[in-house]
Amino acid sequence: MLNTDHRETETVRERIATELLTARERTAGLTALDDHDLTAQHSPLMSPLVWDLAHIGNQEELWLLRNVGGREPMRPEIDPLYDAFEHPRAERPRLPLLPPAEARAYAHEVRGRVLDLLAATPLDGEVPLLRDGFAFGMIVQHEQQHDETMLITHQLRKGQGALTAPPPPVTATGPLPAEVLVPAGPFTMGTDTEPWSLDNERPAHRVEVPAFHLDTTPVSNGAYQRFIADGGYDDPRWWTAEGWAHRQQAGLFAPLYWQRDGSEWLRRRFGALEPVPADEPVLHVGWYEADAYARWAGRRLPTEAEWEKAARHDPAADRSRRYPWGDREPTAELANLGQHHLQPAPVGSYPEGESAYGVRQLMGDVWEWTASDFTPYPGFRAWPYQEYSEVFFGPEYKVLRGGCFAAAPVASRGTFRNWDYPIRRQIFAGFRTARDAEAG
Ligand SMILES: [Fe+2]
Repeated sequence: MLNTDHRETETVRERIATELLTARERTAGLTALDDHDLTAQHSPLMSPLVWDLAHIGNQEELWLLRNVGGREPMRPEIDPLYDAFEHPRAERPRLPLLPPAEARAYAHEVRGRVLDLLAATPLDGEVPLLRDGFAFGMIVQHEQQHDETMLITHQLRKGQGALTAPPPPVTATGPLPAEVLVPAGPFTMGTDTEPWSLDNERPAHRVEVPAFHLDTTPVSNGAYQRFIADGGYDDPRWWTAEGWAHRQQAGLFAPLYWQRDGSEWLRRRFGALEPVPADEPVLHVGWYEADAYARWAGRRLPTEAEWEKAARHDPAADRSRRYPWGDREPTAELANLGQHHLQPAPVGSYPEGESAYGVRQLMGDVWEWTASDFTPYPGFRAWPYQEYSEVFFGPEYKVLRGGCFAAAPVASRGTFRNWDYPIRRQIFAGFRTARDAEAG
């Protein structure tokens, strides 16, 4: 027994070391720019990249070296600079931030000490924060989430692109049914067992879901262009009152980064202008636009519970899987995750990754807006700190599900919940639509 426990602990330790390395390689690639580019603010919506870099190191120091390891602060004077709650993004370029070389050296120094700490820390569950290596897993996910944020900054950045990646592999099969039926019945939503799940994914609870139909794939650019061509952006019937007011005030006419070229649509993607591919999932639309499209199509956005049931429920076994395809970790054959490609794969891709109900691309490619507000599950307990999720609960944030090409596998689970404002368009988000089964 002792030996089994020991082996399991060593496996967790190795996984942590690998994940820390993967995250840092990604961070290094995203910050391989000259000092001017790293310190510039490429959009008022985002931090300078050099802020993300030192913030990653600072959070790692706070949570692992100080909280877990009990070490003294390395540079207490910089803590307030990198506290996300203290300074909104627009303010960050004016702060006396560490210059790029110092930021890199600081993050590197923290990492070296963390690896020493990892080797010397028991992960056997005596300390709740360390059970299954949770504190390390949380920090790995934090760095990967900032890597996604930094990729958003790269996309917002003007001029020649600094990143390249091959397109996703061709795996689409077809033709597919436009939608699948998910019969009425309960399923288990959320988790008690996923070791690195965050507080908002807990606890597991049964949810009764009425029968509904869900799109087999995310909504494509081609379908979205028909909404535009049909005057969707000019018809208040399809929009909520708030959505219409925002559409007017912000002058929305198409997804972010799109521009017209005669009768064609072009998009700017990581510094290159290219024709909008009709068969890719639509990207860079806000919740208001997704909601308007769904109404125009005679449909609606799925609720978060519907999304998770379609993704995780295995009706044959009446249990919830970790991922749409089952319980094994994501691979390149199953989903487009982890910034290996800088765009989503065409709709209908990743047949091996489909869910028990036959729904494709629920994991990876594009984040999917749901109809649901970000609220706590019944029995929610804030952990390990109040600010992780609890301060964001409420009607002003909508839930997104499923990860995207920019999100790391370690931060993408069937239970993982993302949230953002309905006006947000720079995130890598698209959507799919649903309808009540009774209405059919
Ligand atoms: Fe952060």
